[in-house]
Amino acid sequence: MPQRFAGFCDPLCLRFSWPLVEPFAERHVQRRFDEEEEARLCGEELNLAVADTVDSGLILGGASIYDVDLGQARAAIGYWLAPHARGRGVATRTLRLLARWAFDHIHLARLELTCAPDNVASQRVATRCGFVREGVLRSHVRFKGGRRDSVMFSLLPGELQ
Ligand SMILES: CC(C)(COP(=O)(O)OP(=O)(O)OC[C@H]1O[C@@H](n2cnc3c(N)ncnc32)[C@H](O)[C@@H]1OP(=O)(O)O)[C@@H](O)C(=O)NCCC(=O)NCCS
Repeated sequence: MPQRFAGFCDPLCLRFSWPLVEPFAERHVQRRFDEEEEARLCGEELNLAVADTVDSGLILGGASIYDVDLGQARAAIGYWLAPHARGRGVATRTLRLLARWAFDHIHLARLELTCAPDNVASQRVATRCGFVREGVLRSHVRFKGGRRDSVMFSLLPGELQ
């Protein structure tokens, strides 16, 4: 928990991935862990830590598959990295591995990735992995007391690069 809090508690993660007005605090991490476990058991989400090696104990960031709709063979995918892990291809590798797993093991027909229109780094990661930009979803999510547009990307089996 301390590593997740420390890693996520940086200006970029807070700007793009923290949706509340309320300041991000350790109790949010604990609550989120509980929600994630509940969602995993219901088959709705899978939230993973990104690490250098299984044994290192050093967490680089997180990645998740969420909004899983097995009926439609569709889910969303997301990721974040702590500042010390950025700029060396870790997000790209993480996205490739998780997308491959989702196609091969839960047999998804479509993976969706949404991000803020000004989140350039995330969009670069998405397109490098083969995601196709579909357009802008207007007023898509509640964000920091208002609403925010999202750019929608998708990846179909066979498009992963
Ligand atoms: C998105 C994120 C995981 C990418 O991390 P990363 O793998 O270290 O990405 P990089 O820093 O290598 O940047 C990826 C690309 O974007 C470019 N980039 C990074 N920051 C940029 C910026 N502010 N403006 C323009 N381009 C930028 C890099 O030059 C790189 O370009 P390249 O494809 O030509 O190499 C990381 O920025 C992050 O954790 N952000 C906060 C959380 C977040 O936004 N998650 C995604 C929500 S959709």
